[in-house]
Amino acid sequence: MKGYWKYIKPYLPYFILGPLLMLSEVAGEIVLPKIMASMIDVGIANNDISYVIMRALLMFGCICIMIIGGIGGHYMSIKASVLFSADVRKDVFKKVQNFSFKNIDEFSTGSLVTRLTNDITQLQNITRMFLIMAMRSPGMLIGGIIMSLTINPKLALILVVVMPLLAAVITLLLKTAFPRFTAMQKKLDGLNSNIQENITNVRVIKSFVREKFEINKFRNANENLKDSTLNAMKIVIMTMPFMTLAMNITTIVTVWNGGQFVINGSMNVGDLTAFTTYIVQILMSLMMVSMLILQSSRAAASSRRIKEVLNTEVDLTDDEAKHKDAVVTKGKVEFRNVCFKYYTNRSENILKNISFTANPGEIIGIVGSTGSGKTSLVQLIPRLYDVTEGEVLVDEINVKDYSIKHLRDGVGMVLQKNVLFSGSIEDNLRWGDENASMEEIRLAADHAQADGFVTSFTDGYNTELGQGGVNVSGGQKQRLCIARALLKKPKILILDDSTSAVDTATEAKIRSAFETDLKDTTKIIIAQRISSVMHADKILVISEGKVTGFDTHENLLKNNEDYRDIYYSQVDKEVSV
Ligand SMILES: Nc1ncnc2c1ncn2[C@@H]1O[C@H](COP(=O)(O)OP(=O)(O)O)[C@@H](O)[C@H]1O
Ligand SMILES: [Mg+2]
Repeated sequence: MKGYWKYIKPYLPYFILGPLLMLSEVAGEIVLPKIMASMIDVGIANNDISYVIMRALLMFGCICIMIIGGIGGHYMSIKASVLFSADVRKDVFKKVQNFSFKNIDEFSTGSLVTRLTNDITQLQNITRMFLIMAMRSPGMLIGGIIMSLTINPKLALILVVVMPLLAAVITLLLKTAFPRFTAMQKKLDGLNSNIQENITNVRVIKSFVREKFEINKFRNANENLKDSTLNAMKIVIMTMPFMTLAMNITTIVTVWNGGQFVINGSMNVGDLTAFTTYIVQILMSLMMVSMLILQSSRAAASSRRIKEVLNTEVDLTDDEAKHKDAVVTKGKVEFRNVCFKYYTNRSENILKNISFTANPGEIIGIVGSTGSGKTSLVQLIPRLYDVTEGEVLVDEINVKDYSIKHLRDGVGMVLQKNVLFSGSIEDNLRWGDENASMEEIRLAADHAQADGFVTSFTDGYNTELGQGGVNVSGGQKQRLCIARALLKKPKILILDDSTSAVDTATEAKIRSAFETDLKDTTKIIIAQRISSVMHADKILVISEGKVTGFDTHENLLKNNEDYRDIYYSQVDKEVSV
């Protein structure tokens, strides 16, 4: 529970009251056998009916108190565990929202989902169990021992033999169970990530007709989980009959020996009954404690995984920013000797000594083969990742010195892997600007050449999109993503291969809208097709992470071999088609 104090503190009264109220059950369990004993030894032995009735009423009172206390204790414990874990869940979610791209790369999405759901539920369950049993089991153990000692210390010697024996067996059980439960948890993780990857990419799986393969893969993971679960459960299953056996044997031994005391007159029948009950209580509470320990081993793994998220340092913050109030006003972008790699421990940089300047209002094209580093380069402008060396400046200020909100407000980016969310088209576009008027929304969609097809839908802007925007075509999705970015009215607009699925004629219209209506916005456009960028003010040619040219189309055709290669490969294709 270390590290959770912050979450326990607001609900401390529940955390304390829960176990305390459970003490009423302990008191009841301890007193009841004693009352019963006097009922037998005094009331029944002397044929005193009124005594028996008085005792019975007393027992009834005890039971009422036990019920009230028990309900209260359970209620408080459940409340404490649910409220506590809701707060933990909230914080884990908040933390994940603040994660940088790099942080997200390190955890897989599947594992983050498991941590937010299954792991937190485990933590909640163990907290509840713990609160209910924390006082109850040890209370019954200690109370039982004390009571049996006061009734008959000689007979209580049985405990000296039975308890260490039982403790030894329980330890042995736990030792075998622990690794088995850990193995089970691992298999469950495996299954979860398997499901996560499959469901997220179910469309790709279907298009490649890989269902059979996937079903087999799943079957393996599922079989593994089944085997390891059975393996772990065997221990639990075996524990039960063993415990019953142990209890019955102890009872027989107790009654056998106690019987001798009763026969020679040194013990009452009622006391023997009470004594037997206490012995069973002691053994039961020992068993409960061992179950609790077993469960906590599972919860410990969950807790570790939750803390991993909570304790991850978000490696990209604006705490040290020197110009928190600055906003992007002009849209100038400058790279100065920028080097970048995704993993600090890798030796080779993905981007090497990149320097160039994009002036306000310019259109800058970026071309290069796949994997050359185009996406990595533009991601550094809105600080989705931080440079490894050198600096990126926007309006002459280092991007690290802006508040992240101001910087990203000024930079509109259409990511290469972009998504829409479930909700109406209008809702989706409003991500760019919550308070945009309908006119503004239409205008942005018009510039992105999306207004035409949106209005052709029966519901127009109210058309509901499925999760991820499944019910529009690839090209339509791209245009909606551009419109969404345009609504931000950014000073810098970055399109990462965002018109790849749009036909060339429509793309030309988007381009001319940019030229006339977004004059002041700096536009950085990554494209596969040279035709998409040949009209740009300047084109950055990038090859294996290095800039090999930064010039106009005509000049590059004359001077840059990489550019010529790309250009002619595409011209040839168009001729041969
Ligand atoms: N999130 C990431 N983590 C680690 N490596 C990455 C990541 N994204 C891209 N890379 C690597 O960086 C290199 C450049 O990729 P990228 O910038 O996406 O190229 P491009 O956009 O030009 O196709 C590639 O070698 C790719 O494998
Ligand atoms: Mg890319």
